Amino acid sequence: MQTHPRIGIKAISVYIPRHFLSLDTLAVVTGVDPAKYHLGLGIRRMAVAAPNEDPVTMAAAAAHDLFARYDIDAATVGLLVVGSESGVDAAKPIASFVHGMLGLSPDCRTFDTTHACYGGTAALRLASDWHAVRGTRTGKVALVIATDVARYPVGSAAEPTQGAGAVAMVVGGDPEVMELDPFPEAVYTKDVMDFWRPHYRREAIVDGQVSIDCYLRALGHTWAAYEQSSGLCWDDYDYLLFHVPFPKMAYKAFHMLHQREVLVRGASGAGLASLEDAFIARTQPALWVNAEVGNIYSGSLYLSLASLLEAGGPGVQGSRAGLFSYGSGCCGEFFSGRLGPRSTAWEGKIGAREAMESRIELDYEQYLEFRRAGARMTLDGSFAAGVARPVPGRFSFDGIRDHQRVYTTAQEDLGRDWAASDARASSAKAQIGK
Ligand code: HMG
Repeated sequence: MQTHPRIGIKAISVYIPRHFLSLDTLAVVTGVDPAKYHLGLGIRRMAVAAPNEDPVTMAAAAAHDLFARYDIDAATVGLLVVGSESGVDAAKPIASFVHGMLGLSPDCRTFDTTHACYGGTAALRLASDWHAVRGTRTGKVALVIATDVARYPVGSAAEPTQGAGAVAMVVGGDPEVMELDPFPEAVYTKDVMDFWRPHYRREAIVDGQVSIDCYLRALGHTWAAYEQSSGLCWDDYDYLLFHVPFPKMAYKAFHMLHQREVLVRGASGAGLASLEDAFIARTQPALWVNAEVGNIYSGSLYLSLASLLEAGGPGVQGSRAGLFSYGSGCCGEFFSGRLGPRSTAWEGKIGAREAMESRIELDYEQYLEFRRAGARMTLDGSFAAGVARPVPGRFSFDGIRDHQRVYTTAQEDLGRDWAASDARASSAKAQIGK
């Protein structure tokens, strides 16, 4: 009998921006019934990246916390792959900035993977394949980070599904968090225009209903393919996790699979729990952070995994999860894994609950100002020395000078109120220009 090396996720941590906009606040401005956001989409709040946060700082922060919480030696990282659709440069990958910020070894391969929200899964799958071939020989591990800011036009139907955040994972042998099942891959690719973001835009363009249809088609295809390649069926999964652009999408996905299972079992539906009961048991525990954060694109599926691990505690030990990843454009993949035998491996180390406890609510004007200030920061000459850093975290994006993004590692809280600092920021920029 062929044996497979045990490879998977050894550690997982999240970074969630501190600021958020309540969907109740958005509903007042848009005139939409808040129930549409809460029940129709399943979202309560959305994380908003501060002007001095970007996909690079979020990725670095997630990985920095991961190393600290799990006591991982950064020198053991032999591969760094960042999954993102929020690239900050057409040539230099996010991974390269992050490599420098974390002080990783030069003996490390670094690059980004991009395919809309599938980028994180592309990175994870590639890292586990890399480990099977190389890491097992060298004793090195892979660092995979999924980081994104989800941004749509103000006032659009997609605006309530925005979010921001990063998930960092260490991938290697003898995984304590999730061992990936070694079955042949079940993927689906089709060239579609359901969601995209041209280089000249900061905000994505989306054909909402088409994107939902494409997502479900990819799920149907990959579920069937995985069933065939793995021999696993509905009853084999304790949990079903999905890419979560908004939590109701996970419900739609679950609903589709449940309906399929009803058909498989015929009229008697023998032994099949009702849709609601099955959803509450298998998927709902994995959605509570997503409902608070919104879509983080490439990291959304892994934010869902983090939700399950943090909420589930010892109850999820040893259980099997099926995971569906979807990236617009489009590429989908279904895969599965066993959660670690001991929840002590991740308890108190994921950081989602902690992040929820110290959040700062924005009013609508502040939210708009964060967007405006964030856009100004991406202009050459926007370098903002001495100007407020709303997020006093370790890593800060300070603007662009001489066509180079400037990052600093902040030692102290310079935190003045960015949202009220439009005039101050312009005057500081004017002074720098003198
Ligand atoms: P919308 O115009 O708000 O849609 O756009 P809607 O009018 O159909 O309403 C949404 C739901 O709210 C419906 O429920 C309504 O019935 C319900 P459903 O029929 O779908 O079950 N509703 C209410 N419920 C309670 N009380 C009320 C009420 N009123 C209405 N009073 C849409 C929604 C998701 C299309 C939009 O937000 C959007 O375009 N979002 C972005 C695209 C997206 O998230 N697509 C998901 C699949 S593609 C994907 O996941 C990839 C992605 O992450 C990108 C990537 O890969 O990088 C997006």
